[in-house]
Amino acid sequence: MSDIVVAVDGPAGSGKSSVSREAARRLGFAYLDTGAAYRALAWHCLDEGVDVEDATEVAERVAAFDYAIGMQPDHYFVRVGGEDITPDIREPRVTAVVSAVARVPEVRAGLTALFRRLIAEASEPGVIVEGRDITTVVAPDAAVRVLLTASPEARMARRSAELSAVSAEATAQQLASRDAQDSRVVDFMNAADGVTTLDSTDLDFEHTVQALIDIVRAGA
Ligand code: DC
Repeated sequence: MSDIVVAVDGPAGSGKSSVSREAARRLGFAYLDTGAAYRALAWHCLDEGVDVEDATEVAERVAAFDYAIGMQPDHYFVRVGGEDITPDIREPRVTAVVSAVARVPEVRAGLTALFRRLIAEASEPGVIVEGRDITTVVAPDAAVRVLLTASPEARMARRSAELSAVSAEATAQQLASRDAQDSRVVDFMNAADGVTTLDSTDLDFEHTVQALIDIVRAGA
């Protein structure tokens, strides 16, 4: 079992995935991207022709979900049924339906249990786990809990830079609509009691990574 669990939550475009992964690499920690599991399940539902708006059908897929994720920051992969789908889970068609899949209670319960097992099995000195409900539901007892935020403008600018082919207006709309859908399920915009807020609005990537590492060193 990892000695130090670091829980990081935040909205889309806050940089939490890239920042968490780089901080884990520098600390020699494992890294768990929980959003990747929700995306993999959404991909699996599309692949199997499941109607993602049908909560009963989606819930049935969770029990037999054959999922594997790489937890080494330098060896990151996502597999379903042995098939490597690492790039596929970022496709717009998956992003468009992942919120619907993530709001099914059986999905949240099943994946939360999976995350707790993966955290318990991680052998490194520590593990950084990032998502939307890690500080509050998955690992509320984590030694270090951080909410990584950024202004909507900063988040939109980062997303547009990642997806340069998409217009700024379309990016803004997508981000706002995903925040709205995801917020209905878990509150990841406000820090729960005891959670440290790291606002990256005016920080570049390097400074944000360093700030997260400083919080881990101070809290662990
Ligand atoms: O962080 P991301 O964009 O890869 O997350 C994909 C989706 O999964 C997002 O719509 C919210 C959901 N999610 C969640 O509900 N709980 C988590 N712990 C992680 C992600």
